[in-house]
Amino acid sequence: DLSQHESVWLFGYGSLIFKADFPYIQRQPAKIVGWSRRFWQGSHDHRGTPEAPGRVLTLIETPGERCTGMAYEVKPEVFEHLDHREKNGYLRFTTPMTLADASVVDGLVYIATEDNAAFLGPASDAEIAAHIAKAKGPSGPNREYLTKLSDALRALGVHDPHIEALRDHLPKAD
Ligand code: BEZ
Repeated sequence: DLSQHESVWLFGYGSLIFKADFPYIQRQPAKIVGWSRRFWQGSHDHRGTPEAPGRVLTLIETPGERCTGMAYEVKPEVFEHLDHREKNGYLRFTTPMTLADASVVDGLVYIATEDNAAFLGPASDAEIAAHIAKAKGPSGPNREYLTKLSDALRALGVHDPHIEALRDHLPKAD
């Protein structure tokens, strides 16, 4: 029960890196081990529509790989807002994460697994990039999600090969 806690750590690996539309106590870059981000989740509500879903991130188990993101220390009430924002197939789990200051804390993470109805799964970089280039939804163009994420990761000094490959494959904007 989250409400028992004074504050909780949240690990953001996707839009939470570049869009923090909630109050937080502090934030720090952080990493988790055993997971990688992939554009394998369909978005019916943010970067696409039910008829033409966009592609957004989830985490895939990849033993030994590290995923760097942004950790937020928040009041437990913030999860009411986020659970609403991320309702399209995501659930939460807890994993240890290492903060930039070297401390290790438990972090809550949103993940969309292959058993949710919106899951799309793997495709080639060219296919995923072409899909992202044409989708749009209430939160804006799907390509903006990819470019903002990739800019934010570069600013953090993170090289993510999946994200860089997709950006390279993105058709030129018209
Ligand atoms: C994230 O940035 O970690 C995230 C955002 C939305 C849904 C799932 C994860």
